[in-house]
Amino acid sequence: MRICLLITAAVAFCGGLLAQTSGEDAADKRALDAVCGACHSVSLVAGLRSEPEWMETVEQMVGLGARGSDEQFDRLVRFLLRNLTKVNVNTAAASQIAPVLDISGAVAAAVVKRRTEIGKFQSLDELKKIPGVNGDKLEARKDRIVF
Ligand code: HEC
Repeated sequence: MRICLLITAAVAFCGGLLAQTSGEDAADKRALDAVCGACHSVSLVAGLRSEPEWMETVEQMVGLGARGSDEQFDRLVRFLLRNLTKVNVNTAAASQIAPVLDISGAVAAAVVKRRTEIGKFQSLDELKKIPGVNGDKLEARKDRIVF
């Protein structure tokens, strides 16, 4: 069992190196499949949750016996943040906003600065005006953005 996990981690790691960014998400998904698919179908890992809610779920699963390498946990958490996490752009920290919106830490900091200086965001259009925010990317994630 432990050997299997090690091999899976190595494959996920090499896969990530070879395919670079486009393969990163696939490697992250493989880590999720390996760790979170061990007891129940990984299809149970669905729906949108906030970052603290996912962290709580992952901790709960570790309590139930979920095991994996640090790298696998880093990868599966990143997968959850990028794909299954919703964020309130008016209350979340920059570090929580960045992975969900797929923007850099600097752009996420600009989002926080804008809401502190000018006031809360009311719409996607207001968010799109922040330099560095890609409108198409935002549209694709609109279900995951809470105001
Ligand atoms: C050691 C076995 C085991 C592993 C590994 C495991 N789970 Fe679970 N999981 C369970 C059990 C048992 C339940 C049902 C108990 C419950 O609902 O509280 C469950 C239920 C769930 C649920 C539905 C309940 C809820 O909280 O909404 C989700 C979502 C979930 N797991 C996510 C994960 C994720 C994410 C991972 C990987 C980090 C994972 N599980 C790995 C045992 C496991």
